Amino acid sequence: MFHNKCKKGTGFYAIYHGSPENLGGFRMKRYLKNLPDLTGKRAVVTGYGGIGYAAAYAFAAKGASVILAGRTPRKGEAAAARIQSELPEADVIFEELDLADLDSVRDFARRMTERGGAVDLLMCIAGVMMPDGLQLTKQGFEMQFGVNYLGHYALTGLLLPLLRKGRDARVITVSSIANRPVKFDFADARGEHGYSASRSYAFSKLCCLMFAPAFQAHSDRAGWGVKAVAVHPGLARTQLFNRSRGFTMTLLQIIFTVFPFIRQSAGNASRPALYAASSPDAKPGGYYGPWFAAALGGPHKAATPGRAKNPKYREALWTLSEELTGIVYV
Ligand SMILES: NC(=O)c1ccc[n+]([C@@H]2O[C@H](COP(=O)([O-])OP(=O)(O)OC[C@H]3O[C@@H](n4cnc5c(N)ncnc54)[C@H](OP(=O)(O)O)[C@@H]3O)[C@@H](O)[C@H]2O)c1
Repeated sequence: MFHNKCKKGTGFYAIYHGSPENLGGFRMKRYLKNLPDLTGKRAVVTGYGGIGYAAAYAFAAKGASVILAGRTPRKGEAAAARIQSELPEADVIFEELDLADLDSVRDFARRMTERGGAVDLLMCIAGVMMPDGLQLTKQGFEMQFGVNYLGHYALTGLLLPLLRKGRDARVITVSSIANRPVKFDFADARGEHGYSASRSYAFSKLCCLMFAPAFQAHSDRAGWGVKAVAVHPGLARTQLFNRSRGFTMTLLQIIFTVFPFIRQSAGNASRPALYAASSPDAKPGGYYGPWFAAALGGPHKAATPGRAKNPKYREALWTLSEELTGIVYV
C-alpha cells in the first residue's frame, strides 16, 4: 500500500491514519501564538493519543508543567520524550493511569497528592470508541462508559482537593457529535438493554457532556472555585477510528480514506479543548466545538442536545456516578 511506504506519523501516513505528530500546521501555529501564557500552571492530560498529545504539546509550548497520564508506559514516555525533544524548555512527564480500573485511578490520585501543589487544568481526553465486542472495566462497567465517563468522574473527584488549590482551575471533558442519537437512559449505564457498541459510545459521550454543567452546579453551590467546560473535537484524524470495530466504522474508514480532508488534524481538533482550558470567555458549564458543520474549524459554542439540558437528568447522573464509584466530591 502507498501509505505504508510513508514514514509513520508524517505526511500521507498522518492524513490517513492520524498520528500524534499530526499537529496541524499553520492554523495550529497561529492558534498557539494567540493562546494565553500558561507559565506556572500545572496541567494533567489524560491520553497521549491524537488530541491528548496535541493539547499536552500546546500547554507545554505555553509554559505549563504537564503530566501526561495514560495506561501504556511505553507510549506515554515516548510521547513525553517527543514533546521534550521538540520543546527543550518543556516540563512534561508521564504518569501511569488506567481509567478502566478505579484502583489505578485512586493510585494515580494518591501519587498526585503526595507530589504536593495544585492542579490548575484537568483535561479528561482519553477515550475508547466501539471496541471489538462487549468489554468490561476491572470493576465490571461497560468499557466505553467506564473509561470515557466513569473513570474521569472518579479522577476529577479524587483530584478535587488539588484543583481547589489551583489558579483559575478548570476541568475539561470531551464529548462528541456522536452523543446526539442516544436517549438518556440509565439502563445503558447498567447494560440492561443488551449491548450496542455505538449506543454505549454515544451514551458515554452524553455523560461527558452532562458532567460539565452538573459539576458546575455543585461547584457554585459548594464554593469550590473550579470551573468545568465540555468540548467536542468534531472529526479528527487520530487513531480512534482505526481502533474501532464494526460495519459502521469500516464504512467510515472507507469514507475517510476517500475524503481525508473531512477530518482535521489532531492539533486543529484540540482547539475547542485549548479554548475551554485557557480563554477567559469560556463559560462555566458551557459546551464548545468546531464551528463548521460541527466537524471542522476553530472553537465555537456547540449545541447541547435537549436531554442534556435537563438539570434533573444531570443530577441523576451525578447520584448514579457516586453510587457506582463510591466517590463523593468534597
Ligand atoms: N477523533 C475524533 O474524531 C473524535 C471525535 C469525537 C470525540 N473524540 C474524543 O476525543 C478523545 C480523544 O480521542 P483521540 O481522537 O485523540 O483518540 P486516540 O488517538 O485513539 O487517543 C485515545 C487515548 O486514550 C487512551 N486510553 C484508552 N483507554 C484508556 C484507559 N483505559 N486508560 C487511560 N487511557 C486510555 C489511549 O491510550 P493507549 O494508546 O495506551 O490505548 C490514547 O492515548 C476521546 O475521548 C474521543 O472519544 C474524538
